[in-house]
Amino acid sequence: MNETQIPSRFLLKNTGENTNEDELARQKVFLERARLHAGELERLLGRTPTFCVVNFGCQANAKDSEKLAGVLRSAGFTGTESEGADFVIYNTCTVRDNADNHFFGRLGRASHFKKENPSMKIAVCGCMMQEQGNVDKIRKSYPYVDLIFGTHNLFRFPEYLCDVYEKDTGAFDIRGQKIIDIWDKTDRIVEDLPAERKYSFKAGVNIMFGCDNFCTYCIVPYVRGRERSRNASEILREVEALAADGVCEVMLLGQNVDSYGLDLIKKGEPSMSFPELLEAVAHVPGIERVRFMTPHPKDMSDDLIEVIRRNPNIARHIHLPLQSGSDRILKKMNRHYTKEQYIALAEKIRERIPDAAITTDIIAGFPGEEMCDVEDTLDVIRRVGFDNAYTFIYSIRRGTPAAKMEQIPEEQVKEGFDKILSAVQESARNRASILTGRTMRALVEEVNKQDPQYVSARLSNNIIVHIPGDESMIGKFYDVHLDTCKGFYFFGTVVR
Ligand code: SAH
Ligand code: SF4
Ligand code: F3S
Repeated sequence: MNETQIPSRFLLKNTGENTNEDELARQKVFLERARLHAGELERLLGRTPTFCVVNFGCQANAKDSEKLAGVLRSAGFTGTESEGADFVIYNTCTVRDNADNHFFGRLGRASHFKKENPSMKIAVCGCMMQEQGNVDKIRKSYPYVDLIFGTHNLFRFPEYLCDVYEKDTGAFDIRGQKIIDIWDKTDRIVEDLPAERKYSFKAGVNIMFGCDNFCTYCIVPYVRGRERSRNASEILREVEALAADGVCEVMLLGQNVDSYGLDLIKKGEPSMSFPELLEAVAHVPGIERVRFMTPHPKDMSDDLIEVIRRNPNIARHIHLPLQSGSDRILKKMNRHYTKEQYIALAEKIRERIPDAAITTDIIAGFPGEEMCDVEDTLDVIRRVGFDNAYTFIYSIRRGTPAAKMEQIPEEQVKEGFDKILSAVQESARNRASILTGRTMRALVEEVNKQDPQYVSARLSNNIIVHIPGDESMIGKFYDVHLDTCKGFYFFGTVVR
């Protein structure tokens, strides 16, 4: 490698005191440098080097994966779905242990690719890497991994990318070793690095990072840190730029969006509240639909319900995680609401926004859960009539308070899970079937994977409808007649 072509990395040392703007500038220089490495690789391989970002987990991770892809593409790599690409990065999730196991299975298979392509680099980042045990396991059992970093320092990816290609050049004294950098927290919000969008017409927008709720089962506050809200004017600027770029639907993202801005106000900085921000986003010209994820029932205000009601372009879909319908279990989960409070909130939403779908998350098998607690959950499902629900089996997360509570036997967990699952499925089917015969506005998202004669579109209430059509319809809204209900989705025809 010709070192003289490359701006010296030692000019770029982090002082630890640099501002977010300085940090962004630093990373942009590393991105320049990474372009030179990609160029070297291209000469070596005789073709454009490829990258693959493998994403696990929630919307927050999906958004981070778009940033990773944006940096790699901007450096000169080209995207592929193959995990045998020249640069593969796994963005991990650790919310439940099946996510962990799935990842290690995939990482194990990556060694075969590396044997076939010795210049291949493998990186791992995301929530799992915030736990020392997982990093140690990779260090010990997956020697072919080149780079590990966490959730707090993702904005340093251009720098790490350079490190990976420079570590064997003598630039460091870590020849042949992995690059590992995990931070346990950050106050930084460094956005604006290049990001790639999976869809041209819809995009997620981070409004805040982290979570302060500490539900006793949940690992997220430990791996994503304390709540940090982005400045409202920056969020609005990003939404305006997206609209100018042809995006018609945005989803505002945060682990607890109703507490948006409270951290800023606590620090003495002025901030919009979440309802104010949501309404401002709904008014951005060109934005035809706004979604948000996730509100917490304890913080859901009348103002928020009113803002949704009076702005028809805010999606008729409220995802309101219940977790359990039992007061006893809700208390042990640290959720700060009761069964009756949750039901009253859902009734208020149904009354004020009758066409809004209410969906939820439910955990079966939390420590101490008995059949009477499951009955309470079933009662909430029947009384609220959820339009859809994700049902999860409780998974012990090391370091969380619930991990120390007495666990319940597996058969009992399974029995509760099955009951909850069939109740939510029945509820979802009933709620969807009522819509048969109506005509509703739908945004076409993609060509149907099973039958390319059809495209799949999403209604404001988040239900999918398959309609005869082709690629040219993607990203456009149509009025669609809902012909037949297939349980949780529809077949329909375009009216106009
Ligand atoms: N902040 C969001 C998302 C959290 S993770 C929220 O509060 O809704 C998404 C869902 O995963 C949660 O709603 C919860 O139902 C589930 N979940 C989180 N930790 C879990 C665990 N340890 N075991 C099983 N499910 C869990
Ligand atoms: Fe986890 Fe609770 Fe925060 Fe959601 S609100 S991320 S479930 S701690
Ligand atoms: Fe998973 Fe991290 Fe999201 S643990 S659910 S990817 S915040």
